[in-house]
Amino acid sequence: MTSSWNRALVTGASSGIGQELARQLAAAGTDLVVVARDTERLEALKAELAVDVEVLTADLSELTQIQLVEHRLANPDRPIDLLINNAGFGRGGPFIENDREVATDVMTVNMVAVLRLAHAAAETMSARYKRTGQRGGILNVSSMAGDLVAPNSAVYSATKAFVTSLSESIHQELADDGVAVTAVLPGFTRTEFQERAEVDTSDFPSWIWNDAADVAAQSLSALDRNQPRLVTGRLNKAWGAISRTLPTATLRAAGRAAMKRENANANASATS
Ligand SMILES: NC(=O)c1ccc[n+]([C@@H]2O[C@H](COP(=O)([O-])OP(=O)(O)OC[C@H]3O[C@@H](n4cnc5c(N)ncnc54)[C@H](OP(=O)(O)O)[C@@H]3O)[C@@H](O)[C@H]2O)c1
Repeated sequence: MTSSWNRALVTGASSGIGQELARQLAAAGTDLVVVARDTERLEALKAELAVDVEVLTADLSELTQIQLVEHRLANPDRPIDLLINNAGFGRGGPFIENDREVATDVMTVNMVAVLRLAHAAAETMSARYKRTGQRGGILNVSSMAGDLVAPNSAVYSATKAFVTSLSESIHQELADDGVAVTAVLPGFTRTEFQERAEVDTSDFPSWIWNDAADVAAQSLSALDRNQPRLVTGRLNKAWGAISRTLPTATLRAAGRAAMKRENANANASATS
């Protein structure tokens, strides 16, 4: 398969969905700029791939490091025609027990970095399109959580609601600028995400899980079609479609029931 893209910048390429996106783009011949904090893992990925790979170590919870990535996106010498805003994380648990500094980092990585990098990429790509007719693309990895009332995941879900909303609006704004924009909304996907979020998934049924490689493949196809939003996986798609038709009161009740179940489980394991 030949890729639609010459060079992609992928954030969060050291693990999970981002790593799969990088692998699939490279397999189709797209050169890469891979971004994350873990340089060793990025170098290992570079060694594995048969395309040109630049490693750019950056902590996207720091504004000055987000700006380094903005500068790379604007560099005309080795132009980037695809931005994948994939880096992200969450922290489970009751809102008042969340550490405020960590919650702020969740917002910076999941929202501020996504916004600033999308803005920098859109600026450069739309100017290039006007000059040369070359198209650009922005793939923002959001989450189904952004569509839910999600107690015990309040901050993370709010950040993903932002990502989905921003993406759908700029999808329309940038259509005439030759820039495709897709928001991807995965459901539960087997990566390091849940462990980093300190969420116990031991009683989650196996059918709930998606595979990171499938999520990556579906995401790249959706961007190629310039689809504004994609819920990945058949079951997620069905649930996503149903949940959008449910009254808000029903979604709130479902969120409350899930929270009560989670809190009861947490209390039971604390006392056993
Ligand atoms: N897995 C799921 O169930 C699921 C469901 C819906 C949506 N998502 C979304 O999918 C995206 C990818 O997550 P994943 O599931 O692949 O999880 P993952 O395996 O934990 O990967 C997260 C990636 O984000 C990077 N990252 C985290 N904090 C960062 C920071 N401060 N600066 C730079 N990079 C940072 C990590 O790299 P370093 O640690 O090397 O920095 C890593 O490469 C996220 O946006 C997540 O919200 C995941």
